Amino acid sequence: MTAIITSAPGKCILFGEHAVVYGHPAVAVAIDQRISIKIQPSASGMWLLDGGKLNMKRNPHIKGLIEKLWPVDQGAPPLSIHIEGNIPRSSGLGSSAALSVALAAALRGARGRWVTHAETVGQNRWAEGFGSLITASDAYGKSGGFFSTIEQDKMFLLTGEESVDTDENAILAHSVEAAAQNGRASPIDSSTCSHGGVIVISNQVQNDLTYLYKRSLKMPDSERFWHIHELELGIVPDDIYLVIGNTGINAPTGKQVAKVAQMLELTPDRMEEIETIGKIAQRGIDALMVGDYEAVGRAMTENQIMLKSIGVSHPQLDVLIKAAAPTCLGAKLTGAGGGGCMIALTRNPKLTSDAIELAGGRTYISKLGSLGLRVEKLSDQTFWSRS
Ligand code: MEV
Repeated sequence: MTAIITSAPGKCILFGEHAVVYGHPAVAVAIDQRISIKIQPSASGMWLLDGGKLNMKRNPHIKGLIEKLWPVDQGAPPLSIHIEGNIPRSSGLGSSAALSVALAAALRGARGRWVTHAETVGQNRWAEGFGSLITASDAYGKSGGFFSTIEQDKMFLLTGEESVDTDENAILAHSVEAAAQNGRASPIDSSTCSHGGVIVISNQVQNDLTYLYKRSLKMPDSERFWHIHELELGIVPDDIYLVIGNTGINAPTGKQVAKVAQMLELTPDRMEEIETIGKIAQRGIDALMVGDYEAVGRAMTENQIMLKSIGVSHPQLDVLIKAAAPTCLGAKLTGAGGGGCMIALTRNPKLTSDAIELAGGRTYISKLGSLGLRVEKLSDQTFWSRS
């Protein structure tokens, strides 16, 4: 049977989690661990997930993407979705963003994209879709992908890999992440899992980095915006690795983000700690740009002190970080905290990994900045298309 297969990496935040929700700079790298999604038309006439009935309530990211990309009320048929991969869930490694990016790409591949004038390029050519340059669509609202008023005979359906766009996958993944986190989510996970490599997010344009696009989101307290950039690492020494240590403790991101929001509401002075995290992140960015990994490690360790101070670490994270310290350049929790994973930047991945395992963590080893979204297999025909 025809199938579409896509995959996306998980991510580790090197600096700036939580502070990024308030606009401060943060850096994330795509990791070697990935999620792969396979979709096929459902032979049973029902939505299926891994062979069983898809429970939309328990899978809000999938539900949100279906609503935005696969209009059942317009006759889009039910699909069978299959998920595989080695990114542990609710552990700070971006499993929901990777799933959302890969599914958004698969659904787009399954319907193709209507485009207009052949002589224009990229999003300027789209007649439908969601992207940073498309002001007529509201990826964060309920309005659906825009559809240009151009006559049907002046458009054609673009299919295959060309119809898939990393910006669109990232913006859609951000919108469903924001919905799942009660309206508070930065685009760091979604952009990193879509574009891969090293992503820097900040409320200011950072010189010397490759500019990608701007995102904004209305949050419960105010509207936030972020500039998203790519950081080219240059030549990373062969012996530099990230060792990821999983505590095995589930820590839903939304709960941790809400905890920080509540702390700031009750004691607004503590915004100073959030600002300090932003400053440390900026130092980390500077160190990464000149390839000074000792300084990168030091900034990570300082970042952890602040994360602990705002109350998002966990005793088991502290145990794993302490165990890694003697053999690494720097270590900290990664993602929302409260459980989940820590990371250690190290020149001795085996020694660091053994130390973390001995302290009770399950480890994964990754290089810094893996490939982003990949379309692994596309069908020659769309499964459904808007007409
Ligand atoms: C989660 O990976 C990172 C947080 O900063 C939340 C977010 O940026 O949306 C904790």
